[in-house]
Amino acid sequence: MKQMLNIALPKGRLGEKVYRMFEEAGYDCPAIKEKNRKLVFENPDTGVRFFWVKPVDVAIYVERGAADIGVVGKDIIMETEPNVYELLDLQTGNCNMAVAAPQGFRDSQSRTLRVATKFSNIARAHYASMDRDIDIIHLNGSIELAPILGLSDVIVDIVETGNTLRANKLEVMEFFAPISARLISNKASFKFLHDEIEAITDALEIEVRKKAEAEAER
Ligand code: PRP
Repeated sequence: MKQMLNIALPKGRLGEKVYRMFEEAGYDCPAIKEKNRKLVFENPDTGVRFFWVKPVDVAIYVERGAADIGVVGKDIIMETEPNVYELLDLQTGNCNMAVAAPQGFRDSQSRTLRVATKFSNIARAHYASMDRDIDIIHLNGSIELAPILGLSDVIVDIVETGNTLRANKLEVMEFFAPISARLISNKASFKFLHDEIEAITDALEIEVRKKAEAEAER
């Protein structure tokens, strides 16, 4: 019997986009489109079992082998440095890691900079590379509020359209890392399910290329 491949997908808009890439690559699973609260869906014909996982948890499932492969944002890979293989840039969910501040903010090297973020490790590494003293204020969401209320001087966060920054009168001071969705693999699964994982990676890579070519023609 064909070995099922366990795949962790990030729940939400990105996950739905990414599922469509798997579908187009020949790994469809019609049950996933049923409107219900189920989290596991499988298709024995294509040999895949998908799970919907909270985006920040995908790498945990894959690292520990509960999923063989998964899709996760580069931001989470940079922040948590999971012990997994990064197989492919899916070139979707594109955004940028940025430092942003209230419009007109002037940084002064003589003071410790207060940085609010959900990406504490990324922010720490970024400022360490510039030898800048900072005070990290770790938050779990609505980061843009912090400088408005004087809780921080700047924020380190992902910017996609820039709408959230604009709506809160903040501006980008610096973009410092491009982010996109990545296909990752558990290290043991990569060895034991090598043919299956290689086949799905190759099929997805073709989809990525097709999309890039279609965009270039537009
Ligand atoms: C993310 C991010 C920004 C926003 C950026 O927030 O933290 O707030 O999206 O997108 P934009 O540039 O297109 O406006 P998310 O929706 O994940 O919410 P949260 O951080 O408040 O939980």
